[in-house]
Amino acid sequence: MARKIETLYSRALTQRDMDKYFEVVNILEISHRATFNNLYDEIKNVKDTIASFSGNQVVGGLIGSRLNSGIYFVRFLGVDPRFEKNGVGTLTLNRAENFSREIDFDRIAFETHFRNVEWYQRRGYARFDEFQSLRSNDNRVILSKELV
Ligand SMILES: CC(C)(COP(=O)(O)OP(=O)(O)OC[C@H]1O[C@@H](n2cnc3c(N)ncnc32)[C@H](O)[C@@H]1OP(=O)(O)O)[C@@H](O)C(=O)NCCC(=O)NCCS
Repeated sequence: MARKIETLYSRALTQRDMDKYFEVVNILEISHRATFNNLYDEIKNVKDTIASFSGNQVVGGLIGSRLNSGIYFVRFLGVDPRFEKNGVGTLTLNRAENFSREIDFDRIAFETHFRNVEWYQRRGYARFDEFQSLRSNDNRVILSKELV
């Protein structure tokens, strides 16, 4: 059962947040079952990391990359499973969309598992392509949204 969250906010991590990196990596690792080392390598080099907090606790995170074409590409989005269905994923994604607008990017895109597609479609994302991943043997979908 989802835990109730009383205060919820989201912001980009700064270089001073090094300790928070570990919390974000842990959440992404749990929600994606990725390896810690892979995620840590991603996160420590990426400036565009957004964390969502309940009080001082990190409850969700997102790693993005700025592509030269003006697309903000989301590499990972994850919510601590104990706090799912409390609006954390929506808040984290909204923060990434607002951040993309702030830096004058006009599109946000990413690739996700087939089972998450409806969640993104309800948030204005359109299916762009789909394929079977040879590496993970999953059905993957590429989604994108124009930022107006
Ligand atoms: C997919 C994922 C990001 C969704 O995050 P989440 O925080 O559970 O999502 P939200 O709470 O914002 O939305 C979930 C649903 O709960 C509902 N909800 C939101 N706030 C709520 C609240 N306070 N109380 C009850 N329900 C609520 C929403 O209406 C939403 O339903 P909808 O899609 O019909 O609108 C999260 O489940 C996750 O990390 N999954 C594993 C990793 C993954 O697959 N990531 C995506 C690949 S990039």
